[in-house]
Amino acid sequence: MSGPPPQAWLNALLVLVEALQRGLLSLWHALGLTGDSHGQPAWPWARRVAGETLLIDLGLARQLGLTLCALAVAVLAVALALAWRRRGVLLAAGALALVAAPWPSTSLLFVPAAPTSFHASPARFSVDTIALGARVYAQHCASCHGTDGRGEGPLAAGLAVWPPTLAGPLLARRADGELFWHVLAGMRDRRGRPTMPAFRDRLGDHEAWAVIDYMKALSAGSDSAGNWPVPLQLPEMAVRCAGAAPIALSVWRGGQRVRLVAVDGATALPYDDPRFLTVLVTPDGRPPAQVPAFRAGCTAASAQAWQVIAAISGQPLAQLAGTQLLADRAGWLRARGTPGRPWSDADLVCVSGPTTGMPRSPSPAADGLTALLLRMDAEPVRFVKGGFIH
Ligand code: HEC
Repeated sequence: MSGPPPQAWLNALLVLVEALQRGLLSLWHALGLTGDSHGQPAWPWARRVAGETLLIDLGLARQLGLTLCALAVAVLAVALALAWRRRGVLLAAGALALVAAPWPSTSLLFVPAAPTSFHASPARFSVDTIALGARVYAQHCASCHGTDGRGEGPLAAGLAVWPPTLAGPLLARRADGELFWHVLAGMRDRRGRPTMPAFRDRLGDHEAWAVIDYMKALSAGSDSAGNWPVPLQLPEMAVRCAGAAPIALSVWRGGQRVRLVAVDGATALPYDDPRFLTVLVTPDGRPPAQVPAFRAGCTAASAQAWQVIAAISGQPLAQLAGTQLLADRAGWLRARGTPGRPWSDADLVCVSGPTTGMPRSPSPAADGLTALLLRMDAEPVRFVKGGFIH
């Protein structure tokens, strides 16, 4: 979220580099040159392109972009040379492009990779997996990483390497597949001594993916600056509207904005607002008694949703009622509403550009909620794997 200015070409380059690597992996897998690891095609090489470095090193990104253009010119020249007579000129032009290209330094461009580097998480950031992840985390991880994820668990001080804080950009900078690998295989320092223990004998794949989802929720909840270090999706959950059979909350992704409101029966129900779909979240997953027809008609059907909203918003369970989370049309959580306070665009928790510590530009809109919605629409979340831009 903080970091370089959001340049469109950089986003396009990162998407291209990601697609090229994934394409190569699919090709290798289809040709039978690489097998599977944890149920998905295994990355066969020891290194991969450092998307996270390109994101912060614009010079390197520019060099790579120009080199890729030169490669494209060279390939085109060779293709044309096969078909045309004036081969010499074309091949010379292709060779010139390759010589003139500002080849980036390979030691900067490539970083160590794991067989699961390009794995997509099969856990869909659903309330059930996040709740499972919370149990795994409390049992196996909190002793070092701390219940709030800031790396200050009771065992932390006795370790050779201090556990990193999960409340920073770490989880956003790393590809999910590499976090997964580090949890199962553990980590070592330069001299090969173990730093982070391996959990492959204690956790199944499903639990490892689940704990990664939970850590992302925790990173949002542990944030105090009002700017989440990791962009979060609206958690997937079953929702019951107007007594109908439960449906997945994600059906509204790409269409409606969604607002989640924690209500416990004692707090007043919020007014409905046509600018977003309101989903009530209750402690037991049942609709509150006597919801008037003009009020929000949808309720989260999963009892885990309450706990997950508490983790994401960083509220103790007892003080959760009244808390609201607002997701944009693309399904990203963008704002957190505090009980008893009107909305304003200071409630944005997921913003583009380097905003931390900088004054937010005053909005011309009359009321706080309108200003907030305008900013959400004007600054969509841009998202790139292996290097993320908010
Ligand atoms: C014995 C203490 C300890 C326990 C228990 C522990 N960790 Fe760690 N963890 C560490 C240390 C130390 C590091 C930093 C390692 C390094 O940078 O070399 C680390 C690093 C990490 C990282 C950062 C990985 C990266 O890519 O940089 C993640 C994610 C993580 N741990 C998750 C977990 C999870 C999930 C659990 C529980 C299943 C867990 N840890 C249990 C000590 C621990």
